[in-house]
Amino acid sequence: MENESALSRRSLLCGLAVLTLGLLPDTAIAAGNVKVLADGKVEVLISKNTALRKVGGVVQFQDGTGRSLALVRTSNAVSGFRAINLSCTHEGAKVGLSGGKWVCPAHRAEFALDGAVQMGPARADLRTVAFKATKTKVTVG
Ligand code: FES
Repeated sequence: MENESALSRRSLLCGLAVLTLGLLPDTAIAAGNVKVLADGKVEVLISKNTALRKVGGVVQFQDGTGRSLALVRTSNAVSGFRAINLSCTHEGAKVGLSGGKWVCPAHRAEFALDGAVQMGPARADLRTVAFKATKTKVTVG
């Protein structure tokens, strides 16, 4: 009886650990070597954020107002990026990257890497943020 209880407790803890790890950002995300400009925009140098050299690469950072943003490489074109606001469009929790998609820890809404909503309760895509891209840098905001 005691063994069953300990086993059950251990199973529960293992399950919680798996669920928690599932919400942690993928290690493929660069921490973001970025520069916040005086006007609050963020300059992201491609040379210092090598994740952005490949389609599907992601860099996360905060802008001058404290918004959590991500820059996603969507194609090999010079302007092949999408800048997205990481606030969930349901109730504003910060989404995290898990298994190649954005997952909201609050109520489990899911979004594609480019921010398109895939599973509710959120109904709208993650908001995009304006950016300008050159061959060497992307300025977000
Ligand atoms: S706040 Fe994200 S699903 Fe509710």
